[in-house]
Amino acid sequence: MSYEWVKALHVLSIIAWMAGLLYLPRLFVYHCQVDVGSAQSELFKVMERRLLRAIMNPAMIASWIFGLWLMVLIEGWALPWFHAKLLAVVLMTAAHMAMARWRKDFEADRNRRTERFYRIANEVPTVLMLAAVILAIVEPF
Ligand code: HEM
Repeated sequence: MSYEWVKALHVLSIIAWMAGLLYLPRLFVYHCQVDVGSAQSELFKVMERRLLRAIMNPAMIASWIFGLWLMVLIEGWALPWFHAKLLAVVLMTAAHMAMARWRKDFEADRNRRTERFYRIANEVPTVLMLAAVILAIVEPF
């Protein structure tokens, strides 16, 4: 597959991954506002599970596969901007894993974190996304 095709599939994968990383914490904010055991709470559990398993997990894996493929094609390991970008996407992956844990807590009706906590958590992938895109396109160093 040509470099351009790999990059196109990389960008499509990260769009899907970012959509999930920005939406799931938002669902957690709303989930905090409803009663445990209520019909709304059970509906949020279904939405959170499907978003994570059907969209975010496959999109994260595809982002890594096409990203590492691109790294090999451009010998990215020698480029300082790529080192910084790799740090940003590793932190993004850690945020993904944390969200997966928080989802399990909601599913088991044992969430103890506040709405405010999830509003702040929602900003983390936003900041990391800004860094990853600017580093990948501007290549500032
Ligand atoms: C998951 C691990 C990731 C790896 C290993 C990775 C690696 C790479 C590499 C090596 C390139 C090629 C750069 C070039 O051709 O000059 C690239 C392109 C790109 N990456 Fe990633 N990336 C990852 C995740 C992300 C994420 C999460 C975002 C955004 C939130 C992102 C945004 C981009 C963009 C916008 C481009 C295209 C840049 C251009 O057109 O020159 N990447 N990525």
